[in-house]
Amino acid sequence: MWNGTDFEFAVDSADAAKIKYPAVMLPAFQEDGADDAVARKIAGAAGIDLAGLRKSGEVSGALKEFTILHARDGAPYRHVLVMGCGNAAKFRIDDMRTIVAKAVRTLRKIGVDRMLLATATVPQLSGEEVAEAAIEGALLGLHKFKRYKKKADSIRPFRQLKLVVGTAREVAPAREAAARASAFALATIRARELAFEPANLLGPDEIVAAARKVSDDHGLALKVLGPKELAARGMGGILAVGSGSRRPCYLADLLYRPAKRTGLPRLTLVGKGITFDTGGISIKPSERMHHMKYDMAGAAVVMQTVRAVASLELPVELRAIIATAENMPDGNAYRPSDVIRMYNGSYVEVTNTDAEGRMLLADGLAYACEQDPDMVIDVATLTGACLVALGTSVAGLMGTNPWLVGAIRDVGEHYSERFWELPLYEEYQVHMRSSIADICNSGPRYAGAITAGKFLETFVDGRPWAHLDIAGTAWSDEDSTMYLHKPYLPQRGPTGFGVRTLAGLALKVSRESSGSSKKMRELMRWAGAAPVAAKRKVSSKRG
Ligand code: BES
Ligand code: MN
Ligand code: ZN
Repeated sequence: MWNGTDFEFAVDSADAAKIKYPAVMLPAFQEDGADDAVARKIAGAAGIDLAGLRKSGEVSGALKEFTILHARDGAPYRHVLVMGCGNAAKFRIDDMRTIVAKAVRTLRKIGVDRMLLATATVPQLSGEEVAEAAIEGALLGLHKFKRYKKKADSIRPFRQLKLVVGTAREVAPAREAAARASAFALATIRARELAFEPANLLGPDEIVAAARKVSDDHGLALKVLGPKELAARGMGGILAVGSGSRRPCYLADLLYRPAKRTGLPRLTLVGKGITFDTGGISIKPSERMHHMKYDMAGAAVVMQTVRAVASLELPVELRAIIATAENMPDGNAYRPSDVIRMYNGSYVEVTNTDAEGRMLLADGLAYACEQDPDMVIDVATLTGACLVALGTSVAGLMGTNPWLVGAIRDVGEHYSERFWELPLYEEYQVHMRSSIADICNSGPRYAGAITAGKFLETFVDGRPWAHLDIAGTAWSDEDSTMYLHKPYLPQRGPTGFGVRTLAGLALKVSRESSGSSKKMRELMRWAGAAPVAAKRKVSSKRG
């Protein structure tokens, strides 16, 4: 299985016409004048006349048009892959990701494991962005999950991609961008691998083990609460969901805190880690139930985001709270009509055991808020209703802080992970009213993604919070349009959606706060938000 290891990405401004490589990738625009000087030089060394090919109509330069040519005898390269980039004025960062992903796949199929990539230059993209997109496209595009195929992969692992830029002073910033992109992409790949694992081989224990691996690899603090500790603390939501399974449930708290820095902005992520969602006693129809092995995608995303941020040693404090359980029907399972006392002391009437994600997240969110973070974001494959509303390529975004909601949308756009905001208007709350308890856990069919968000909102106590519903985007399906548009995603399988945006958000927070939690809070307030609520006193006497 190739998972990004042994991959080397280099940036060089040396005379590309003299570097020996088995293959070279040439970005070619529709317009003659738009090709980069580096690309023209490499084409010249290969004996290829880009302008002539365009004139004869053999190459049009249309976006995603690929042409494999052979270099002239004696050239430093053998294969030349001309990659159509379309109209230069319309070339976007995601086009770069897309064509590089397609190119590395194409070349690997013909046995090429080292390739040279000429840079593309357009005014709307910086050299850093081009380098970033190239590495993301290459790493994400090459990843394939093969653990359970007996026959070994006959294709050689991919070894090297060298990006050639025009001048020596472009090298350092491009290298830095590439290092960041590679940390983001490798963490994304790990999140995919976790979500791919079937439920018989990956239960809550294995989710905790994966979090432990992140903590071991990067020397991070990890606290794990098992069923006994959860019971002692009164985390009724997680326990209720886990009660129908023979496998124990957990809350894991993974913390990245850079050494010797205090007062840093504090960001907490909460991930839904249901390793299999049968629906419980409110059992799901069996037809598409096998997909529910990926109901832990949120947990995978939050822990791997911590990996990416820790590996880059960004100046932020980042915590991942992972609530993990298996939702099974059993003699011990929780049932519709049960009333559960949650960690924050409120009572929930269970009207549907299939609305388990919010039960688990509610305790995770209340626990997260206790530590007084500047912002909290939960990530979950939470509702089928979100799929109905937004489809498979856009995730649901809800939240109470305009700065945070806007930042997630913008950062997501940069990484081509799309989020669309759904409103948390007061009137949706009435659907969650219970006649016996403070709130019920499922509302009517309409606005199901929003009512789930309204439920969660009651557990964050007014703190800047955002909720990401990745039910539609966590997995790419045969009938999904994702892969068609983005060949750096798997054709079928988990996408790792969210890791790059959340790691990118941590990067943005670290930059805009100048390393100060106080400044971050001010920034978020200026954006029109309610002030951070005072620390909640949880009454343990209730009930
Ligand atoms: N894990 C599911 C949501 C889901 C559905 C994710 C389809 C990916 C694809 C979640 O636990 C669930 O079952 N939600 C219910 C909520 C309802 C009972 C209020 C749903 O969406 O039907
Ligand atoms: Mn469910
Ligand atoms: Zn679920």
